[in-house]
Amino acid sequence: MIPATIPVYYWAVSGNNNNKVITVDADIGSSIERAHYALVPAHDFLFTPAMQESIEAFRLDWEHLEADPYMADGGKYRFRRYGLFRLSATTGELSSIAGASFYQSAKINPLNGGQPRHFAPLTADIVSNAFLREVILFDFAQLTANKHIDDDWLIGVHQIRILAADGIPGNPTPEGTHRDDENFTAQHLIGRHNISGGINYFYGNGPAPTECPQVVWEQQVYFDSYYFDRSLWHSVSPIVLGDGDGDGYRDVLLIDFVESSKLN
Ligand SMILES: [Fe+2]
Repeated sequence: MIPATIPVYYWAVSGNNNNKVITVDADIGSSIERAHYALVPAHDFLFTPAMQESIEAFRLDWEHLEADPYMADGGKYRFRRYGLFRLSATTGELSSIAGASFYQSAKINPLNGGQPRHFAPLTADIVSNAFLREVILFDFAQLTANKHIDDDWLIGVHQIRILAADGIPGNPTPEGTHRDDENFTAQHLIGRHNISGGINYFYGNGPAPTECPQVVWEQQVYFDSYYFDRSLWHSVSPIVLGDGDGDGYRDVLLIDFVESSKLN
């Protein structure tokens, strides 16, 4: 059991606060408790310069994702990789679980859910990428800042690229307003280019989504980020090719966090 007074992030990785690899000028844990979400623009984050090489390698990996083979609408505009990690509550160790599939219920994802989906795995370089590991542990520490950690957590890492072609918009995954199965979700923008759309909408945490969105936010630059818990209704609008040069795309890193004792 990890003592609740010692944030996992520092305990597991950095040893003490002087070695912070990522810092943030926001109280994400309190926002999650109070509002069930947190919006954190990129300029609120600070990364140690020593991490720059890992950050760049991680960012460039979005050029090497594989086509999503589970597109029931026949769309060819979605590319991704997926990996699953276990964070041990006893040792603080973050370990990769090879060959994991991703499952969403058909209720949450009517188009492509209801079956285990075996996406292309994270590459070995990404599984061991220092920045990814820091981000996972950092996000976990923020999201559980006011929570007692006494169970292992399963952490899903999704690298996703949505393309927009001439006359063919790129739909987000999953489509439509929904809330997630996982305890917490973190999303970091990796990049967007020559598109409009890709707007985030939050609709409260009531029994049903509010009629009008309570939050409308377009992530624009690398690491514009949001966090929410499983109670929050949300959606993302499709992306549409812009008038500029080059391909239209939106790249995101999605990380979901599931407390293992809550699994069926
Ligand atoms: Fe979602």
